[in-house]
Amino acid sequence: MTGDLLLGQTLSFHGDPFAEGWESVARHIRRGAVLISDGRIEAVGEADDLRAANPEARVHDYGERLITAGFVDAHMHYPQTGIVASWGKRLIDWLEGYTFPEEIRLENPAYAAEVADLTLDLALAHGTTTVASFCTIHLHSADIFFEAASARGMRVVAGKTCMDRNAPESLRDTAQSAYDDSAALIAKWHGRGRATYAITPRFSPTSTPEQLEALGALWAEHPDCLMQTHLSEQTDEVAWVSTLYPEARDYLDTYEAHGLLGERGLYGHAIHLTERERARLAETGAAVVHCPTSNTFIGSGLFDMEGLTRQGINVGLATDTGGGSSFSMLRTMAAAYEIGQLRGRPLHPAELLWLATEGSARSLHLQGTVGHLGPGAEADIVVLDLASTPAIAQRSGRAEDIWEQVFPTLMMGDDRAVAATWVGGLEVQGAPDP
Ligand code: GUN
Ligand code: ZN
Repeated sequence: MTGDLLLGQTLSFHGDPFAEGWESVARHIRRGAVLISDGRIEAVGEADDLRAANPEARVHDYGERLITAGFVDAHMHYPQTGIVASWGKRLIDWLEGYTFPEEIRLENPAYAAEVADLTLDLALAHGTTTVASFCTIHLHSADIFFEAASARGMRVVAGKTCMDRNAPESLRDTAQSAYDDSAALIAKWHGRGRATYAITPRFSPTSTPEQLEALGALWAEHPDCLMQTHLSEQTDEVAWVSTLYPEARDYLDTYEAHGLLGERGLYGHAIHLTERERARLAETGAAVVHCPTSNTFIGSGLFDMEGLTRQGINVGLATDTGGGSSFSMLRTMAAAYEIGQLRGRPLHPAELLWLATEGSARSLHLQGTVGHLGPGAEADIVVLDLASTPAIAQRSGRAEDIWEQVFPTLMMGDDRAVAATWVGGLEVQGAPDP
């Protein structure tokens, strides 16, 4: 077969490490190869075997570098790129002081296009090949984002954010216009090329019950769309929700009562949960998305990875930029590790890498399609230099196995560790010679 043959160390996963134990699901090949053809992965195996079987393939030799699935960022806000790392506020004040003023600026389509291009280029430079992004309330903000992703061949999830109260006048839609605009975007984008539409109520405080109801009805009409929102990020927010929705049993119930709880639902943060909420998330097969750099940066709390995964709840991993303080899924894995430590459960490097690829892809119902280094998956791949800085190199140089070799990059790496990024079978960020 012709096509491209990537040589290096390979790392792939064949199951859920939280359910089965990382030892039985991780597969590392020290001198491995990945064969790509027509935008898909054809085979992963020993370099010598795949070379002998595919003498016509173009060879890309990455030496000691690690070839793995491209990172999947399961929750972020492209409109907030310009306000990442803004000082000193917690969630509600941060939204009012930094986020809403910036999201108003995306009223200008030219500015929205600039931010969409910048954000997707930053994602690729950091080895992230799929993102699930919130847009702004402007219909064009979603159009522009899907166009920018399509121009890069990227598989993305996105949706127009809906808000009809507790937001500045110019960032408010209505129950009807949120329904109509989201329906128009679904018709235009959902399933087109590599796009998935996510119906996107920002969070219960910025939607009236009528708007949640309208979006629940829309989801029932388009059940193969995703639905993304926020859930129980800060205690003040949870208390506010209980005053806004006095009938609700808890925060999740504000969504559930309006048809917005389901298997294809994605609930960002999910830190301060009741037992009932956990049970319902588990029963419905919904996914929660861990946003560790955001949770420490905005001061939200410590996500219960151990408890939630033990209950069988699907978990994705995400940057949550600009609430999150980094575009890097490596930095995000480091923060997830640190939060695990604070909760007495250090995550193994295999678990961290699984969350950043397979786990996030599963939360987006894209398992086996992206975030997977195996035959049939789309060829979205990242090649990591495990010695990208002197500080990392001196530590990985004395490693005795792949986990000890990769862990310093997870803890200390950034975009300098990304030697190459492949999207849909094309190399979009080149690698210098190893
Ligand atoms: N809750 C509602 N909107 C947002 C947002 O934009 N970022 C974060 N981190 N939390 C939110
Ligand atoms: Zn968010």
